[in-house]
Amino acid sequence: MKRQASIQAENIDAKQMKIEIGPTDVSPIADDIRHIKSDPSIKKLQFLSMKNGNRYTVGEYLGEGMFGLVMEISNQKNEKFAAKMIKATKDKPEVLKIELDMMEKIAADPHESILQLIAVEQLIEPPVTLNGTVIVTRVLGPSLLDIINSAGDRMRDGDEGTTFPVSTIRQVGRQICQAMIHLESLGIFHLDLKPENVYFFDRRFELRRIEMKYLSIEMVDARVQIGDFGCSRWHPVKGAPVKPTLVQTQNYRAPEIFMGLPHSIKSDVWSFAAILAEMYTGQLLFYGTHDEETEQSQFELMQMITSSIPSRRMWRQAAALESKKIIYVEKTRSYRMKKLPSRMDPTLLLHENIREKDVFAVPLFIFLDYMLVFDPIRRPSFIQCSKHRFFN
Ligand SMILES: Nc1ncnc2c1ncn2[C@@H]1O[C@H](COP(=O)(O)OP(=O)(O)O)[C@@H](O)[C@H]1O
Ligand SMILES: [Mg+2]
Repeated sequence: MKRQASIQAENIDAKQMKIEIGPTDVSPIADDIRHIKSDPSIKKLQFLSMKNGNRYTVGEYLGEGMFGLVMEISNQKNEKFAAKMIKATKDKPEVLKIELDMMEKIAADPHESILQLIAVEQLIEPPVTLNGTVIVTRVLGPSLLDIINSAGDRMRDGDEGTTFPVSTIRQVGRQICQAMIHLESLGIFHLDLKPENVYFFDRRFELRRIEMKYLSIEMVDARVQIGDFGCSRWHPVKGAPVKPTLVQTQNYRAPEIFMGLPHSIKSDVWSFAAILAEMYTGQLLFYGTHDEETEQSQFELMQMITSSIPSRRMWRQAAALESKKIIYVEKTRSYRMKKLPSRMDPTLLLHENIREKDVFAVPLFIFLDYMLVFDPIRRPSFIQCSKHRFFN
């Protein structure tokens, strides 16, 4: 059994941050901009000549997301860097500018668990698939998603899944939590926390078969950094309201966003919990699988899995904000989500994911339960999470 495919690839999330929640929120991306790695103009790219006179040799492929293609590059002194080459999409330049401004702000006040900007450079003659901007950072190892996938590829018949030891989940969780507290102090919401955007320093890991059926992923070095500020937002100026927009990749999206409510520092906490659960099971915690219904079915599943539901306050707030996601039902004099799923996916309640007799996982699931609260007002902040027993 392989890890569930993330919904993002085929979904509207590419433009998540630019879509206002409302009647026009379903504008799927016209072309497949996700994979340009095998584009002929990219394949023949051997050198990067920059407007500032720098020249780099292009090395191995490191990864590709919705907005960038990341390659290893080396300068004349043979120092290696990671180059995130921004794709030539129809994106507004303001969006890229936000990402660059944030990376500069972080570079001025760095954190050991946040990917740090080294330079922003411009290609002299960018291939048609690129816009010319190159974000240079240090080379890290594979993403958490890459590791989960490569462990999944090595499963044999009869294996039930992959997992990280709870001690590793704790180590990684602590780093992400501290990184998020730092981002918060800089006035930044990440809004795209997911395994794809968490990078290990070191690619080495061993697989150990535990309880006969699970492959335990034992990292040689569990240090990580979080990156990708392509969907991040600044905190509003004090007191100003946050305008509700569709943010976050669907599988990691907080309930308030599903309902058309504004994001907050608590929205990233929801994604964080989903990441830690996924490290334990090797599977997405929240998913919706029926195409156009994915959003609604995932929202229902989230309620079942977490045994948590939207509060009256959330419905009232959504109504006050004239959210297009909800409707008022005269008969019951209550609100419900506008679209309801016709079919539900089979699922497990949160705690049912704990493997038999795995006592070490119990504190992890108590922690997950603590974070996966529907109402953001009742959900803990990263500062509160960092003080949870799970980390002590
Ligand atoms: N500094 C880095 N070192 C190694 N791999 C990286 C680095 N930065 C990004 N990657 C890889 O490239 C992928 C895409 O980068 P990302 O910044 O997330 O772009 P996007 O904004 O398109 O999602 C990541 O998921 C990761 O696998
Ligand atoms: Mg990314």
